Amino acid sequence: MLAIIGGSSLVKLPILEVTHRQVVRTPYGDPSCALTFGRIGMQNVVFIARHGYGNSIAPHEINYRANIWALHSVGVKGVIAIGSVGGIRPDMVPGSLVIPDNIVDYSWGRKHTFFEGPDKPVVHVDFTWPFDGELRARLLQTSRKAGLSVIDGAVYACTQGPRLESAAEIRRIERDGADIVGMTGMPEAALARELALPYANLSLVVNWAAGKGCSEIVRFDEARIGLHVREVEKILLTL
Ligand code: HPA
Repeated sequence: MLAIIGGSSLVKLPILEVTHRQVVRTPYGDPSCALTFGRIGMQNVVFIARHGYGNSIAPHEINYRANIWALHSVGVKGVIAIGSVGGIRPDMVPGSLVIPDNIVDYSWGRKHTFFEGPDKPVVHVDFTWPFDGELRARLLQTSRKAGLSVIDGAVYACTQGPRLESAAEIRRIERDGADIVGMTGMPEAALARELALPYANLSLVVNWAAGKGCSEIVRFDEARIGLHVREVEKILLTL
């Protein structure tokens, strides 16, 4: 069974043939919402809306530990995390689908590890390559089979939000080597790694990052978000 974590543009997954829902409690508190189980094509899937079904939980308020713990506790074999991002690199044009291969983390103050507290060992998980190679390859292959062009490889910068970045922050993030910017990639990816859960990210570019493109301010392309959702559905149907 694969887990799908839906971002703000994917609160529901109409293509999911729902079998049941389950409220999961964890030692870390409550996940964003109940887990929805079902099938997409031949694939058994469990879906969770990262921001809650009402899309009301801000990126810095998400209980990432509870979400990842809950998915692990129901026995998923991998996690596909979907999220919206801003494009920094010139080819990360709004409308692009990107499967990043690395991360720079600028978030702060989030509960970011399972290994803390007096009863837990100190563990330093390897995070050289934050995303699972096999799951990335599967996602890429599936996307291409579905006839969609996806960008293979990018550095994802995770900012704290909920505000967007200043133009100077984006210039700095770009100098740091990042290509796209979002608010939810971390600590989610690291928590999945701590539980040895294969995890890959599918990023939907919905705007030019601050100071990029030709708009004075950041503009989200609402029409594009609708198209993205259909593209993501195509990918998931091909999984
Ligand atoms: N910055 C951070 N997060 C985002 C953006 C952005 O420009 N667009 C969508 N999520």
